[in-house]
Amino acid sequence: MDPRSEVLLRQAELFGGPLLLAGLPADDLLGHLPAARGWSWHAGDQAALDARFGGRSQLGVGPPAVDFDAALLFLPKSRELTDYLLAALAARLPGRELFLVGEKRAGIERAAKQLATYGKPRKLDSARHCQLWQVRVDHAPAAPDLQALARRYTLPLADGPLTVLSLPGVFSHGRLDSGSALLLEHLDRLPPGHLLDFGCGAGVLGAVLKRRYPDSQVTLLDVDAFAVASSRLTLAANGLQAEVISGDGIAAAPTGLSAILSNPPFHQGVHTHYQATETLLREAAQHLQRGGQLRLVANSFLKYPPLIEQHLGPCRTLAEANGFRIYQASRS
Ligand SMILES: C[S@@+](CC[C@H](N)C(=O)[O-])C[C@H]1O[C@@H](n2cnc3c(N)ncnc32)[C@H](O)[C@@H]1O
Repeated sequence: MDPRSEVLLRQAELFGGPLLLAGLPADDLLGHLPAARGWSWHAGDQAALDARFGGRSQLGVGPPAVDFDAALLFLPKSRELTDYLLAALAARLPGRELFLVGEKRAGIERAAKQLATYGKPRKLDSARHCQLWQVRVDHAPAAPDLQALARRYTLPLADGPLTVLSLPGVFSHGRLDSGSALLLEHLDRLPPGHLLDFGCGAGVLGAVLKRRYPDSQVTLLDVDAFAVASSRLTLAANGLQAEVISGDGIAAAPTGLSAILSNPPFHQGVHTHYQATETLLREAAQHLQRGGQLRLVANSFLKYPPLIEQHLGPCRTLAEANGFRIYQASRS
């Protein structure tokens, strides 16, 4: 059980009514709170919750259209995302209770101050390195317009400007990451066919791919519903059409691909882990056609080449700059 869920269950008498659990972990919590519903923006957590509690949790970028008397937010990493989520929940709860739980190292004390916009926050519990806060929503805001919170920037690329829109909480919000910038310079000579932008974030690579290879089918994939929504905004802002899918890991990707391009994830939340990327390197071959390529950018210190060589084939370093490398390997 996630420690944040354990802290909630110490106060289970507060959570017996219709409660919306926003950003909930994929653990047993829904099983302990029969009147509660979930709202997740993580496709992997949502799939696990669906398998266990069929239909009691929904994936999306806004609170689901279900009735709830109170809501509890599991603190996300990004402050801007927290602002949006608290406002979206508070808008649905005038005169009712909004709770916030999070780990101390994830910044729960600072985040609890954000609750003061809506009423007088109270700390209810502190245990397992987590805190649980509550506020009665005395000042309910209007429902926030998520699209209006997107940050927009323009990249002056050789084939014309590209507009990128990113929603709160999305990787490299409002600016181009240096690793992605290096990969954008190395998108030439891809084999024709179906291209995948794995871990698409705001959709910058996928959009550039579609513009550069208009005859290729392009798919963008991300585990985060806010990234998926951002990618759709980015494609639309540039008049491009491509498939954007929510999914957890390479297993969710199509097969028969001619190339997989990625600035793959290498950390998540306050915990560091590489699992999604290691699985990508291990299983890319199953999603590539013969001669299909994997091309990715990674911090130079990450030891990906041995894994790539073990599971795909000889790994070439196409470029190296500013602490990043571009690796390329093909399926034989
Ligand atoms: C380093 S960012 C790159 C984003 C974007 N491609 C760019 O270049 O700006 C990695 C992305 O992978 C996504 N991600 C993390 N775990 C994932 C998983 N298991 N399956 C799919 N995408 C994942 C993250 O949400 C994030 O958007």
